[in-house]
Amino acid sequence: MTEQDFLPQEYSGRATEGEVTWQSPSNIALVKYWGKLDNQIPANPSISFTLNNCRTTTTLRYSKKEKAATDFDFELYFEKEKKESFKPKIQKFFERTFEYLPFLKDYKFTIETSNSFPHSSGIASSASGMSALALCLMSLEKELDPTMDNEFFTKKASFLARLGSGSACRSIEGELVVWGENEEIKGSSNLFGLKYPYAVLEVFQNYQDTILLVDKGEKQVSSTVGHSLMEEHPYAERRFAQAHENLGKLKQILKKGDLEEFIKVVESEALTLHAMMMTSQPYFLLMKPNTLAIIEKIFRFRKETGSHLCFTLDAGANVHVLYPEKEKEEVLQFIKTELAQHCDKGQFIEDHTGMGAKKLA
Ligand code: DP6
Repeated sequence: MTEQDFLPQEYSGRATEGEVTWQSPSNIALVKYWGKLDNQIPANPSISFTLNNCRTTTTLRYSKKEKAATDFDFELYFEKEKKESFKPKIQKFFERTFEYLPFLKDYKFTIETSNSFPHSSGIASSASGMSALALCLMSLEKELDPTMDNEFFTKKASFLARLGSGSACRSIEGELVVWGENEEIKGSSNLFGLKYPYAVLEVFQNYQDTILLVDKGEKQVSSTVGHSLMEEHPYAERRFAQAHENLGKLKQILKKGDLEEFIKVVESEALTLHAMMMTSQPYFLLMKPNTLAIIEKIFRFRKETGSHLCFTLDAGANVHVLYPEKEKEEVLQFIKTELAQHCDKGQFIEDHTGMGAKKLA
């Protein structure tokens, strides 16, 4: 598919006013997206687990104007309060998607959004937030075009979410989503996320992700700055090639259930992401002493017990601890007694893989 395929035809339906609510999850990348080209095209492919409990719920109210306006008309409420500071991001999202949703200036919108996780947890809400909003807009488009099928609905929702925030395109479906063209994943695209199309052994189903909240502060590096660091990066080309290789390795691992190899790929991806930040100009060091203390304890616990827990990181100090459901009891015990002490106020969030976004009645 190309961008052209997402341009709508004449609409045959009508929608004067109404509301729709979607709940969309966050996701955690196993192979990381870090670096992008124009129009939110990723510099390398990525794959993520869709989460279940970390979610954004968004209600979109719409009412048709008498006359189409020259600019977008919307109000934004976050956790019941008017939030002017979030508006520029939504404005930008509307600008980027207007070509594909030409009705956007015909309506007055009220957007109400809330997260299931604390806003100041350092958990990025752009993936869950942008995907939830993209889905709400698709529900409105479906009213205008009642012939639209579900497959197209899902693809276009992911396509739009990507224009809001790259990783958001991986939050529509579950439990594993690939985004970015890769030779070995048939149907993979730079334009939208693809539900992982191959066999996945049972051990990877309902995989656990306990998110250790090491540093709940605002992100030190915005994603815009972060991705742009790869533009002049001395190791960029090798890194992009490595992401393709790691995705190929994961395909075999998911099929065969080799947890030792899974750990190697996932932890190496996390450390490479941070290595890229540490070796860019300007350079950033996002791990905190507690991040390292946790990683070292994970290495030790694995060596001593043969457990299959591993860690991954986002562009921040928090640690995602990943492990099979079968090992939940022992790992949670270890987290509570050994790792929680390195978290801000001892806080962590228990999550696991999920099936993607849901429309609420
Ligand atoms: C480190 O999706 O937040 O989490 O496209 O600029 O909104 P934008 O970036 P964003 O980047 C996420 C980067 C990452 C890795 C990943 O999720 O793949």
